[in-house]
Amino acid sequence: MCGITGYIGYRKAYPIIINGLKRLEYRGYDSAGLILYDGKDIKMAKTKGKVSNLEEKITNNITTTGNIGFGHTRWATHGIPNDINSHPHFSESENLAIIHNGIIENYDTIKKELINRGYTFKSDTDTEVLVNLIEEVKKQKGVKLGKAVQIALNEVVGAYAIVVFDKTKPNEFVVAKLGSPIAIGIGEDNTEFFVASDASPFIEYTKNAVYLEDEELAIIKVGKSIKIRKIKDDSLVDANILELKLNLEQIEKGGYDHFMLKEIYEQPKAITDTFRGRLLANKGIIRMAGIDDNIQRLLNANRIIIVGCGTSWHAGLVAEYLFEDIARIPVEVEYGSEFRYRNPIITENDVVIAISQSGETADTLAAIKMAKEKGAFVFGVCNVVGSSIARETDAGAYTHAGPEIGVASTKAFTTQITLLTLIALKLGEAKGTLSKATYHTYLQEMELIPNKVETLLTINDKIKYIASIYKDATNFLYLGRGFNFPVALEGALKLKEISYIHAEGYPAAEMKHGPIALIDENMPIVVIATKKGHYEKVVSNIQEIKSRDGKIIAVVTEGDTTVKEIADHVIEIPETEEGLTPLLTTIPLQLLSYHIAVMLNKNVDQPRNLAKSVTVE
Ligand code: F6R
Repeated sequence: MCGITGYIGYRKAYPIIINGLKRLEYRGYDSAGLILYDGKDIKMAKTKGKVSNLEEKITNNITTTGNIGFGHTRWATHGIPNDINSHPHFSESENLAIIHNGIIENYDTIKKELINRGYTFKSDTDTEVLVNLIEEVKKQKGVKLGKAVQIALNEVVGAYAIVVFDKTKPNEFVVAKLGSPIAIGIGEDNTEFFVASDASPFIEYTKNAVYLEDEELAIIKVGKSIKIRKIKDDSLVDANILELKLNLEQIEKGGYDHFMLKEIYEQPKAITDTFRGRLLANKGIIRMAGIDDNIQRLLNANRIIIVGCGTSWHAGLVAEYLFEDIARIPVEVEYGSEFRYRNPIITENDVVIAISQSGETADTLAAIKMAKEKGAFVFGVCNVVGSSIARETDAGAYTHAGPEIGVASTKAFTTQITLLTLIALKLGEAKGTLSKATYHTYLQEMELIPNKVETLLTINDKIKYIASIYKDATNFLYLGRGFNFPVALEGALKLKEISYIHAEGYPAAEMKHGPIALIDENMPIVVIATKKGHYEKVVSNIQEIKSRDGKIIAVVTEGDTTVKEIADHVIEIPETEEGLTPLLTTIPLQLLSYHIAVMLNKNVDQPRNLAKSVTVE
């Protein structure tokens, strides 16, 4: 939530900041703003709306000179999205400027105190309170900016990634982190520095970066090496400079109209990348260091608790079916937010698997911190390398899906399922809970999945046609059973988040316990009816829909003739093991929601009110 980026060095800062903000816009797009320092004055521009609105405002109002500056794209928490509440914020004297991603929970108490001391506030934000607190500390204690930031941060409760600039000392930034991510890009010989919520804004300038850990503060001075201290006890920390693997091509649209479509089409490669080097089907081996090193912990677990949010929670539900069916280990799947607050019973014999694309989701992060405190072993399934959840977990495995920029998750979901399937198979093999023959069939079938996804993508036009028929529906129902019940949930989530059409996912058999009342001739119902997944029962459900005049869009196994006769539309998926079908049935549902949203002129990549990385609880 909220993207922040900045530059200090010898290049023109404006293009770096504005392009960086465009790359970070997936993190929030309620408003955008920046400051530029031209050697004399700080110029500020900010506006409600998108980075493109900011660009327009700037071309009309301020010159874009200067080699220092920073910008912000906001997902509103405190204060409605308007020009004034947009970041950056000045302190009272306008000497200090700040950008902030996070929430200061005790801002109200601090604000009252500052008002008593004569401070006035222009915005409703917690961030303006923080920058004034820093100014007050600096004044009262007569300390330098870095020290003042440190003292102020020790007084606040909440989460933050901040960058602070002081006009009276214009050769440095002070950067700090607790809870929200921040990366610092380092130019050759420290001649320039970049800061950003992720590395995408500076990837074409440098591959060397430091990711600050929680409760760390960095002082960045041009010409000097970066200095990092612990906020609490002032101790010095060695800068751990990483070499980034990300490249520019991965974060551009590459000829597609939207990131979401690009990411849907990337799935054959993304799934291959997930199992590359891990799945050796010919040898009958699955190699995963994070699992191999901790196999006894997993095999001896009383139960596995899977935590995640949104799409990642849906991947967890698929994993529940896989782990119980293949490895015979009891599984519970929990929303991070609920798990954390309901005083759950966790023991040292439990294993928690945390699933998160971004690795920054606050609810999931809080859940695993609690599970760790109670002695559980925590395993992470993340996409973003070096993310907070990846660092917080005891062990883990990356999905290697590559950057996912469209706010609606697509390739993250299928790669999470791929990885979780490998884990289930590995455990099942080690426990002897599935036959050798079934194990080998799974491995060989898994290798074929990318090609099968590729084949499925060729029916895009057919799905576009179906989308054109139902785009004006106001409600959709998605039904599935077994492994494909979570896919029904995911299909409904995809549709509602990008097209704003109300959609519900249900286990097919539950339809008769309530949702059937909704069915009439205006109701499209997407039913997943693959050959082996309780097929006859689902066919009966389809009959029940038909006799109430519902419109049926059925996802079936290739060659199916029974459903073809009843359904209004049939989408065929190639045959595979039942446990692997979610990797295929998901694809047409992603395309259906994509095309409907495009036809309704919705902002597919940045749906309203959402953000890619939810770093608030
Ligand atoms: C839906 C979507 C969200 C995320 C959820 C968790 O398309 O993207 O529901 O899945 O916010 O995010 P991660 O996986 O980053 O923890």
